[in-house]
Amino acid sequence: MTRSVAAIACGMPKAELHVHIEGTLEPELAFALAERNAVRLPYASVDALRAAYEFQDLQSFLDVYYAGASVLLHEQDFYDLAQAYLRRAAADHVVHAEIFFDPQTHTARGVPFEVVLDGLERALHDGLRALGVSSRLILCFLRHLPEADAFATLEQALPHLGRIHGVGLDSSERGHPPSKFERVFARCRELELPCVAHAGEEGPPAYIWEALDLLQVRRIDHGVRALEDERLVERLRAARIPLTVCPLSNVKLRVFPDMRRHNLKRLLDAGLAVTVNSDDPAYFGGYVNDNIRAVQDALDLSAADWRRIARTSFEASLVDEPTRARWIADLDAYFARK
Ligand code: ADE
Ligand code: ZN
Repeated sequence: MTRSVAAIACGMPKAELHVHIEGTLEPELAFALAERNAVRLPYASVDALRAAYEFQDLQSFLDVYYAGASVLLHEQDFYDLAQAYLRRAAADHVVHAEIFFDPQTHTARGVPFEVVLDGLERALHDGLRALGVSSRLILCFLRHLPEADAFATLEQALPHLGRIHGVGLDSSERGHPPSKFERVFARCRELELPCVAHAGEEGPPAYIWEALDLLQVRRIDHGVRALEDERLVERLRAARIPLTVCPLSNVKLRVFPDMRRHNLKRLLDAGLAVTVNSDDPAYFGGYVNDNIRAVQDALDLSAADWRRIARTSFEASLVDEPTRARWIADLDAYFARK
């Protein structure tokens, strides 16, 4: 029996390189943690909360996302959150996940940096043992806050650098260009932390240029607006800078009016290194394989396209070369059986 392209892509081993752990907080867990921690959520029920997931743009989402994070207080809460994500990822044949976390969202509420890190790391450790999912943590600076706050967060991270595998930049993009964080990223590079940044999600191609030239990032998160600038496309293509694209997120946040109008296929056809990711799966309608199915329905990629996307997800990961090569060999073996 021949399997559909969607089934082949869903079953292939892959890495997820763009997922915010706070964005994996499903309404059911949010309510369970709210009760456990005696925190009041401004919604009457799980259904009412889910019904609030109608967004006009990035900011309207972030308002709900930061409100949801208020239920996360204790080490066990961060553990439960990450464990739930890893179970979903494993079910989608994700063998490696590079997970963003936003310490400032928690330290601003009095939750110690170590509580966040300890809970996430313990879940990741158990996830490797119980589910076989490998993972890395990427600390994101919130770009709507001043650079001084990012420096203070980096200071808190210093005793734990062996447990943090990279730094990123997220939150409200418009009006907060990468140049605002040039000095803190320079310091991160001195500390030999791999750097990535959200750019070109809502913001203009100029923000992608800044992320490359000023922050010297190795990956661009989203980057879909790169296609508006031919010179930029050439730069990204020549340097093989990966774009971690999040299709359902882009439709939910109205970067594209619907999936048929998403430019993923055009990014691939332009020769760019593209991966497919879930961003904030609890809010945007699903995990990696939900993204794959939605893209496949609308854009009809080939099995070769999906194989290339999975290969890129491994090549673009932060792990060492022998590990990447092993995953790519597993991917080749999977497609040899198809
Ligand atoms: N934080 C969580 N999700 C985000 C996104 N899609 N863009 C920017 N910041 C985010
Ligand atoms: Zn994101």
